Amino acid sequence: MTQTAFVLDFGAQYSQLIARRTRELGVYCEIVPYDTPWSALSARRPAALILSGGPESALVEDAPEMDSAILDSGVPMLGICYGMQLLAREIGAELVKLDHAEYGPATLIVGDRDTPLFDGVPNESRVWMSHGDTVVKLPRGYRALASTERCHVAAMGDPKKKIYATQFHPEVVHTQYGRAVLENFLGEIAALRRDWKVESFLEQSLAAIRQSVGSDKVICALSGGVDSAVAATLVARAIGEQLTCIFVDHGLLRQGEAEEVLAAFREILHLNVVAVDAGQRFLAKLRGIEDPERKRIVIGHEFIDVFEAEAAKIPGVKHLVQGTLYPDVIESKTPQSKAGHKIKSHHNVGGLPEQMGLSLIEPLRALFKDEVRALGRALGLPAAIVERQPFPGPGLAVRIIGDVTQERLEVVRGADAIVRAEIDRAELDPHPWQYFAVLTPVKSVGVMGDGRTYANLVAVRAITSEDGMTADWARLPHELLERISSRIVNEVRGVNRVAYDITTKPPATVEWE
Ligand code: XMP
Repeated sequence: MTQTAFVLDFGAQYSQLIARRTRELGVYCEIVPYDTPWSALSARRPAALILSGGPESALVEDAPEMDSAILDSGVPMLGICYGMQLLAREIGAELVKLDHAEYGPATLIVGDRDTPLFDGVPNESRVWMSHGDTVVKLPRGYRALASTERCHVAAMGDPKKKIYATQFHPEVVHTQYGRAVLENFLGEIAALRRDWKVESFLEQSLAAIRQSVGSDKVICALSGGVDSAVAATLVARAIGEQLTCIFVDHGLLRQGEAEEVLAAFREILHLNVVAVDAGQRFLAKLRGIEDPERKRIVIGHEFIDVFEAEAAKIPGVKHLVQGTLYPDVIESKTPQSKAGHKIKSHHNVGGLPEQMGLSLIEPLRALFKDEVRALGRALGLPAAIVERQPFPGPGLAVRIIGDVTQERLEVVRGADAIVRAEIDRAELDPHPWQYFAVLTPVKSVGVMGDGRTYANLVAVRAITSEDGMTADWARLPHELLERISSRIVNEVRGVNRVAYDITTKPPATVEWE
């Protein structure tokens, strides 16, 4: 049986990172809301528990807390940041508010080497802090294991109970030996087998898919993106000809993309694919729409209509495959969560309603994006698909500011192909995470030969990022920018000026719409 570690999520921005790091260390890990009762958790037989950080202070009266039975469960436990303060409060330690919160880098000094938590960690190392409260006095049984200049108890532990905590964040890359600390907790303290890997997941899921599908027929929407490609290939591996994939080409893909992905699906992956060329339908629906959110909604609805009509042509279908990933299914319950403001509705060509009366098969529900890529490689998917840049479901429609027309699609496609080709060829380190062209409605005056031009401005966007949640603009070499700019104005008709987007996210978003 797979041993599972659980992250109790107190609303930390890093909860997913903790789970990913734990899996990277070979321990399967899931995230559950902080107030999950022990009765529910114990049924899943947790092999270790990690209490995440969180935005609240453990000193306030209604601070979010866990079921107190968890503390006495005997399951090895690691509290991180807020998780440490909550543990401190529960065990009767003394906790105070710092005069000045401690954010960012600090030097950790290991003061106690009688426990394995800091095995392999030097006496001094850099850690990442983000807290306003601090533990000052521990009850019997607990030992202070490390400190920083401003935080006297930066780690604590009760070796008998196997309860440990760190004030710093071992899961972030800025903590130099964070991986070692997590590894010590999981491997030495909780004594977990570190045998979880995507390949073992592959075997299990093939069996599970076969069992839930039986001899039924199944359909899947392919978008050209990594998730749907991996999901479809996995299901096809399990049930072969019983799966039919539907590839709706909304006409908003990049240059050559529809042909490329279709060829890969059919010739390399041998998927059974129905391709629908719906470009004109989508263009007709988009005519005259300038508002970005409207564009997204119209494309989402149209996609569902086209897909449903195609699916209806296949008799006896019972299941629909969707490439839903773990970050979409985590039941996040942030303490005192405020309704988030919707920035953009993300319409993905995988997002279909249950109203079709089909049961959903979501074989990637437990995986993070990087694990989906690893699974894709294990399934033999070509690099062109596995390493694909993220691409918005509504495609180039959100990279054309204003009206989407055939001519404007051609302009943005031409410019985008140049941006991609030049950056790919440049072999940069780090390689930007995502890069593309945006067609703006701004027109400006230029001169070509002896003539005056009055043509469009294209913006080039290239970012570095880990996950698209935050991003920095890529510091591309000037010569590369020069080549991109000069090729675009020379090769793409209707463009006489190129600008480079030097905004971070936040405050800007990655896509312009
Ligand atoms: P934003 O523009 O929100 O983008 O900063 C963050 C990341 O998400 C991608 N993106 C989308 N992905 N469907 C998707 O699957 C969408 O509708 C969508 N809109 C934006 C974007 O390319 C970036 O990687």
